[in-house]
Amino acid sequence: HLSVKERIDKKRKAALIGGGQKRIDAQHKRGKLTARERVELLLDPDSFVETDMFVEHRCSDFGMEQDRNKFPGDSVVTGRGRINGRLVYVFSQDFTVFGGSLSGAHAQKICKIMDQAMTVGAPVIGLNDSGGARIQEGVESLAGYADIFLRNVMASGVVPQISLIMGPCAGGAVYSPALTDFTFMVKDTSYLFITGPDVVKSVTNEDVTQEELGGAKTHTSVSGVAHHAFENDVEALLNLREIPPPFRECHDPSDRLVPSLDTIVPFESTKAYDMLDIIQAIVDEREFFEIMPNYAKNIVVGFARMNGRTVGIVGNQPKVASGCLDINSSVKGARFVRFCDAFNIPIITFVDVPGFLPGTAQEYGGIIRHGAKLLFAFAEATVPKITIITRKAYGGAYDVMSSKHLRGDVNYAWPSAEVAVMGAKGAVQIIFRGKDNQAEAEAEYVEKFANPFPAAVRGFVDDIIEPSTTRRKICRDLDVLASKKQVNPWKKHANIPL
Ligand code: COA
Repeated sequence: HLSVKERIDKKRKAALIGGGQKRIDAQHKRGKLTARERVELLLDPDSFVETDMFVEHRCSDFGMEQDRNKFPGDSVVTGRGRINGRLVYVFSQDFTVFGGSLSGAHAQKICKIMDQAMTVGAPVIGLNDSGGARIQEGVESLAGYADIFLRNVMASGVVPQISLIMGPCAGGAVYSPALTDFTFMVKDTSYLFITGPDVVKSVTNEDVTQEELGGAKTHTSVSGVAHHAFENDVEALLNLREIPPPFRECHDPSDRLVPSLDTIVPFESTKAYDMLDIIQAIVDEREFFEIMPNYAKNIVVGFARMNGRTVGIVGNQPKVASGCLDINSSVKGARFVRFCDAFNIPIITFVDVPGFLPGTAQEYGGIIRHGAKLLFAFAEATVPKITIITRKAYGGAYDVMSSKHLRGDVNYAWPSAEVAVMGAKGAVQIIFRGKDNQAEAEAEYVEKFANPFPAAVRGFVDDIIEPSTTRRKICRDLDVLASKKQVNPWKKHANIPL
């Protein structure tokens, strides 16, 4: 007979090796780290405090009650720890125990740390690597998913939730990551889909590989389900550590001038330039963590710091589709703006937008309802909002892009700004249709409208600024706006067009 102390030690040791050395080796052979190795890499050294190491599944069907089918901690490692000193809660699914499949006990462990994270207001990071519902447990497992989903929804907007997909994630399991704020993936070893290639083949007769159907490339460039893809487990976990903490000491002078910006916008208004060049030149130390860099590239969104403070950046990208807003870019932008607003991150918006993308594909796809999301998101946001019009701000898209009218706190125009209903050529073709003095009319339109004055004389922009002073001005404005308080009318919840 073992003493209690010996039994405790034995269980702890067993928990540490999960499904055993053979399965750990198999995990490594697939190019994946184990659940515990991942937690160690993600968190500050020695900061991990584990919970529920003794929890075991309670299934007694299919021989599951036998000792050889019991693993202390079951198929998930849970607890709390620190990333650069900041408290986070983590769960890491252990593929070496029943393929990381979700038992009732596994779900209960995840729910417990989610509840604790909510109690203290700390982010939840989920490292997903699971064969889905624990088949032997049936509905018990499905109930476990639903318990997690409910918590994902309740925690939404209360604590940041991040999912990193590091192996399979299929069927109902996908809906937990889908409910979180950000979903990241690891290239080649992770996939997300509702049903796998075999089911797809039998239902739609399509031939598709796992990778094509739900790999990192698909979800970061085609479906928009995931926000970023990383090369491997190590790169993914180290990058996750960089997701911005609220404040960091800044060594980049807040009053730094950026002379290159004075000539960055091409003189010809139809010529493209890269909005990323502007963003990187303005933010602290040129560091910009772009979200969804390969999806709907006509809009750029991501995090940066200004004088040490985390900000969300939204920018039209003139390099892609002239920076037009379309369905995908509207949804991408809206979701990002809402994240920033929920977590009190100021939003800086760089505008160069010739309008919404025309065409049947867009209209049939519901650009009206999707474009409305971006409008809605900017309008309802109560965080500090600073807008810089670098060039075009045409039509309804001008209104949408964090305009003064949607409660922009500070709205600047560069001298190259053109705030108008549309470009000169299109405008003249409509209002001077059939007249022969088109060239003259166009020149008059350009003189009157293709400049920042019509907006500035009405106070729709607060100032026309030298581009080189943009960083300095934004940093000062953010200082002032740090005490901004604005509340929307009380409501049960708004009804954003979906
Ligand atoms: N329930 C219980 N056990 C599961 C499981 C599940 N959903 N998924 C995998 N496992 C177990 C396997 O029995 C195997 O156990 P073992 O180590 O004792 O042999 C282990 O996990 C690893 O699975 P394996 O199939 O050998 O790994 P793989 O890398 O070849 O394939 C999957 C991984 C996820 C593609 C495959 O296991 C699978 O299709 N699982 C079922 C997925 C599913 O349909 N889930 C329900 C949807 S909600």
